[in-house]
Amino acid sequence: MPVTITTLSENTANFGFLAEWGLSLLIDVNGFKVLMDTGMSISTVYNARLLGVDFGELDVIVLSHGHLDHTGGLMEVLKLSGPKKIVAHPDIWNAKYSDRRGRPSRNIGMPFSREELEKLGAAFELSREPVYLSSSIVTSGEVPMNTDYERLDQGLFYETEEGVQPDPLKDDLSMAVKTKPGLIVVLGCAHRGPVNIIRHFQEVTGEDRIYAVVGGTHLVHASPERIRKTIRDFEKMNVKKVACSHCTGLRAAAMMADAFGDSFVYNNAGTRLTLTIDQGD
Ligand SMILES: [Fe+2]
Ligand SMILES: [Fe+2]
Repeated sequence: MPVTITTLSENTANFGFLAEWGLSLLIDVNGFKVLMDTGMSISTVYNARLLGVDFGELDVIVLSHGHLDHTGGLMEVLKLSGPKKIVAHPDIWNAKYSDRRGRPSRNIGMPFSREELEKLGAAFELSREPVYLSSSIVTSGEVPMNTDYERLDQGLFYETEEGVQPDPLKDDLSMAVKTKPGLIVVLGCAHRGPVNIIRHFQEVTGEDRIYAVVGGTHLVHASPERIRKTIRDFEKMNVKKVACSHCTGLRAAAMMADAFGDSFVYNNAGTRLTLTIDQGD
C-alpha cells in the first residue's frame, strides 16, 4: 500500500515553490486522496499547479482546526475542486485571536462564513468524535490532554458568551493512517500536544506502533525542556520517521534533526514523501 504525502503549503519552500506561513498536506493512500488543510491564502493552489495536482480528484478535505493559516486557502481550493465533503470539528467556527506580548491582538480565525463555503459546494461533516475517512484513515476527534508537560499555547484566545477566553483548541484535529509497519500520524498544528495526540490514536486504533509523525508540532514557543521530553517520548515510541515543520519552530526542528538524523525530514512546500510501500496489500 503506497502512502505519499505531498506538502502543498508550508512556511518554507523547495526551489520554485511558494512559501507562506501555514500548512497544507495532500495524503494519498492507495489512490484515496485527502487534503488536510489549505494554507493561509494562495500558496496551496499555486504549488498544486506546479505539481500537477488535480483537486477535482480529492475524496475528502480535512480541516485540522479553524486557524487562518490552515483554512485561508479553502475558498481557492473549492473553486478548483468543485463540491467536496469537509471533515472538521464544530469549533472551527469560533472567533479566534492571537495575543502576544509586544504585538497587537490579531484575528486568526476562519476567514469565511459557512454559507459562502457551502455556496461553493462545501459539505461539512462536523464531529467531536473520530471519523473514519476510509478503512485505514481516521481523524482524531477531540484529543484528551494527559501528559504532564504538554500545555496549550497561552497566546491563543477565542470569543465566548462571557467574553474572550484562553482557547482550549478542542477543534485541534489530526489524522492517522494505518499501515503494516504502524501508524502514520499526520498533525495540523498539534495544539493539544503531539504526544497526547499520538497516544490518543493508539487508543482509537488499537495500534501501538508509530511508524511516522508528519506535520506541525506547535513547539515554536516551547521550552528546551519540553522539546527534549517530546523527543524522548517519540524515541520511546520507536518512531521511525519524523517529518515535522510549520509551527514546530527552528529550535525544535533542529533538535529533532539532531536526534533523528537521516530519519528526520524538514517537510517544506514541494516535498513529496513516500512513507511506506507495503507489498502485502
Ligand atoms: Fe498553524
Ligand atoms: Fe494553529
